[in-house]
Amino acid sequence: MAEVIAAAAEATDAVDVISRGASEAGIEDVLAADGYLIGSPETFGSMSGLIKDFFERIYYPAQDQLTGRPYALFVCAGNDGLGAIAAMQRIARGLGWKEVQAPLLARSHELELRLEDCEQLGAAMALGLSMGIF
Ligand SMILES: Cc1cc2nc3c(=O)[nH]c(=O)nc-3n(C[C@H](O)[C@H](O)[C@H](O)COP(=O)(O)O)c2cc1C
Repeated sequence: MAEVIAAAAEATDAVDVISRGASEAGIEDVLAADGYLIGSPETFGSMSGLIKDFFERIYYPAQDQLTGRPYALFVCAGNDGLGAIAAMQRIARGLGWKEVQAPLLARSHELELRLEDCEQLGAAMALGLSMGIF
């Protein structure tokens, strides 16, 4: 999902796209970006451990600096996914970020069918940012 979303955002030529795995992403990336597309598999009813680690590392350094920053979520899950979405939305609310698109939830068995939605998510974020809509 991340690869398709990033490729679609890049294909707009409207923004610079920086893709990071959760373990390599840090506060410098967060401060430098104008918006975020954050994805996770759902594990044990929540976000993956590495995404939680990412949020734990950036939470205090980012707090009060990025109010209103646009973001959207994408989640892959075996059969649910709502726990991961709710947990990440709670953190994003704490950071004061603004959710600008509904979360994209794909069940892993239907992933192939959702790639077009992934493309739309990436393109819409890129174009929304570049046009100043968010
Ligand atoms: C340790 C573990 C815990 C998981 N917990 C959940 C869960 O709570 N809810 C859910 O819908 N899927 C769960 N899954 C399924 C993953 O979300 C799924 O494996 C992931 O989205 C990637 O899909 P794939 O395994 O088909 O590549 C879990 C998978 C693992 C390995």
